[in-house]
Amino acid sequence: MSTETPRVLPAGSGIADAASVLRTGGLVAFPTETVYGLGANALDARAVARIFEAKARPSFDPLISHLADAADLEKLVGAVPPAVAALADRFWPGPLTLIVDRPAVVPPIVTSGLATMAVRVPDDAHARALIAAAGVPVAAPSANRFGQLSPTRAEHVVRGLGGAVDVVLDGGPTRCGIESTIVDARGDRPVVLRLGALPVEALEEVTGPVTVRLGSSGQPVAPGALAAHYAPRTPLRLVSGPEPAAARGGRRGFLAFRDRPAGDWTAVEVLSPTGDLTEAAARLFDALHELDRTGVDEIVVEPVPEIGVGRAVNDRLRRAAATWD
Ligand code: TXA
Ligand code: MG
Repeated sequence: MSTETPRVLPAGSGIADAASVLRTGGLVAFPTETVYGLGANALDARAVARIFEAKARPSFDPLISHLADAADLEKLVGAVPPAVAALADRFWPGPLTLIVDRPAVVPPIVTSGLATMAVRVPDDAHARALIAAAGVPVAAPSANRFGQLSPTRAEHVVRGLGGAVDVVLDGGPTRCGIESTIVDARGDRPVVLRLGALPVEALEEVTGPVTVRLGSSGQPVAPGALAAHYAPRTPLRLVSGPEPAAARGGRRGFLAFRDRPAGDWTAVEVLSPTGDLTEAAARLFDALHELDRTGVDEIVVEPVPEIGVGRAVNDRLRRAAATWD
């Protein structure tokens, strides 16, 4: 990775500039409603190769392609199964990624050779304006080094990727704070491949019961589903009940859902003082980035309630903790 810094531009006024960087094969990090994405022209295999290089991402981990508008889906891939179209209709723009057949115009590097591709329309005005101005689908994984914490602020991108990215559009903190939900709705019963910002309950209101199939190793169905992922640099331990207050020395940080923990902690982050899961999801990665920076020896985390977007939050926490098992 380069030690240079990228050009950081305001998300609004920087769009024309950033779009021309995309058109000429460069990398642009941009805000979405979920996390910041590291974008390249999805129709340009060399540009897409730079994404894998910048992230040190294994080539078996396929990317999500972003469109400016739901109407662009048929233009790109042709007709899609009715159940897929219905979900796009209901939830786009929004934090839902759908699996479709990869059209020949999209180079195989985008999908790591898979015959299918992941696609979504982000619910962020700057992101959509950027994609529209570039005039191409934009392949974009989260704008972090592979396996590390996802970025919810432009600063996270600059710190994590440095000059490996050409331009960072700064649109402030992202609204959802957690990645999109990935669904394969091509078959009889939709399959959730990654829990994310769109709760399973909301999906099921449209589709009826879904199957949740989260891979964990080997050739993962959605490698965001690798057992160890989303990890801070500091060892992280997930606890199931309250930590005994009398615990043990060292510099330790605590990531709480609603209530400040008892006892002596070097640093504490509370995700949502009102116990709101949406707010907790929005703050999750930011709070982990902050605890990581305090230089504590260990981060202790408690799970959040396992409902709605809380399921995706707990999924990220388990994977982060698995790195340190
Ligand atoms: O919210 C998000 O989805 C963010 C923003 C930037 O849009 N992007 C994101 O990308 O989280 P990334 O690369 O960190 O995660 C993409 C996930 C990976 O786990 C990948 O395996 C899965 O999407 N994926 C991509 N193509 C797939 C396919 N054809 N079948 C199954 N999973 C796929
Ligand atoms: Mg990611």
